[in-house]
Amino acid sequence: MGKAVLCLCLTGRTIQENLNTLNDFKGTYDLAELRADFLLPSEWQYLKAFPLKAPCPVIMTIRKPGDGGLFAHPEEDRLKIFRGVTGGGYAFFDFEEDFANNDLEAGARADGARIIRSIHSVSGFPSGLETRIRRLKRHPTDLPKAAIQIQSAGELLELLRTARRLQGFEKILLGMGPIGFITRVLASKIGSFLSYSSPPEQSAAPGRTDPLTLQKIYRYRQIGPDTKIFGIIGNPVMHSFSPRIHNAGFERLGLDAVYLPMQIEDPGPFFSLAEELGIEGVSVTIPFKESVIPLLNKQSENVTATGACNTLTKKNSSWQGTNTDVQGFLTPLEERFLSDWQGERTATVIGAGGAARSIVYALRRESFHVLILNRTPERAKSLAESFGCEWDTLDSGGAKKARRYNRLVVQTTSVGMVPDVEGEPFGEYRFQGSEIVYDIVYNPSETSFLRRAMRSGCRLVYGREMLLAQALHQFKLFTGRDLPEPESIDLGF
Ligand code: ATR
Repeated sequence: MGKAVLCLCLTGRTIQENLNTLNDFKGTYDLAELRADFLLPSEWQYLKAFPLKAPCPVIMTIRKPGDGGLFAHPEEDRLKIFRGVTGGGYAFFDFEEDFANNDLEAGARADGARIIRSIHSVSGFPSGLETRIRRLKRHPTDLPKAAIQIQSAGELLELLRTARRLQGFEKILLGMGPIGFITRVLASKIGSFLSYSSPPEQSAAPGRTDPLTLQKIYRYRQIGPDTKIFGIIGNPVMHSFSPRIHNAGFERLGLDAVYLPMQIEDPGPFFSLAEELGIEGVSVTIPFKESVIPLLNKQSENVTATGACNTLTKKNSSWQGTNTDVQGFLTPLEERFLSDWQGERTATVIGAGGAARSIVYALRRESFHVLILNRTPERAKSLAESFGCEWDTLDSGGAKKARRYNRLVVQTTSVGMVPDVEGEPFGEYRFQGSEIVYDIVYNPSETSFLRRAMRSGCRLVYGREMLLAQALHQFKLFTGRDLPEPESIDLGF
């Protein structure tokens, strides 16, 4: 079976708006789906002429609310529209599973169109899906379709298994919602005839993405049956920057691999998914860095020490956990400061959460004397006791103590991150200008805290540097190769 094509969904209120969309995204799609249920009724009269104006084959769809659409008019109106556009040159008509109108179907076929016969499940995984999909092919040219809202990793697994059992059977298959997102990227791998995409500002279906992102970030057209899959598990995870980094690496090295955001509700079911998809490397992010540890076969020393794991790799059917945040944090310091460090190694760490734990461990390994300052004293005390550090709170007392631990100041809380970019975790502290100030927040790339440090003449380390460094260590673990020219990766901010 050939590669999956890409369909652009048109959900404009007018025909002209849809033509403009086709023009704006020219060159990125192979066919278009005209969602006539989004059109103003006054536009219906122009529907027949649309295929002639479009630069690609067009699917005609009029979806009712029960199937996830907007067409709330009587069924007779829907039939009238379908009849009216027959002979207009539509390449496909999308009719739902329960739709049956022999005259209309014969007319469409006589016109050279194929019928997409579709199941839409917006709540709950349908039972007997494979059989239902096979039965949708009532005529040799029919193209069965199932679009299933995916609410758990278990449902995603069921959909992927259904896809495997249907390999070689022509159909459109996709999982809707963030958990189902990977099926939209992997259309060629799971044997779907097409994947649907939408302009960024319009989304007729949750989890759908735009054609530029699909191609630029996920290399949709390069994906095939043998493409190796990597990814990141977390919740939420759809806005992670990691796919941009790893996929750029695969592109630069010409590797047949893709890295996907995989939203799951807990890490247990991921291992069955990994088995089904042949996944051998995955990043782990919030909130699973701790909860994934009991599920590992082996763990590195830094996972044991920090109680956090952000990388899983599979070797000889056993899963090994590593923590590349430790080395990712140190790499920018090593490259720029640590090799010719003069005098004592002192550091103040702001925050005492999960991120701080990996950082304090890294600093202690590099023989730093560390002061931990946190809003909640108990957490500061507990982290300090684990690693033999001083601790205090984020007030004037803490600021005074920090004067004795200020060769390096590391900000590990989420304060200052978008959307609250004016936030400042430690306004009590006055920079001397001699500090190296490191903020692990990477969006925005320059936080209020870093800007204040810069005005005092401090040298800065940006969160983006750590983000990239930890990902580069992961990339090496995943592929055994170095990612070329990481500085030029577009992180989109
Ligand atoms: P992470 O894994 O990202 O470190 P976390 O474990 O939830 O996330 O830890 C968040 C850290 O940011 C904590 O140190 C938290 O302080 P508390 O222990 O007092 O909660 C800190 N933090 C979050 N919001 C903060 C705020 N508005 N001011 C100061 N510290 C804050």
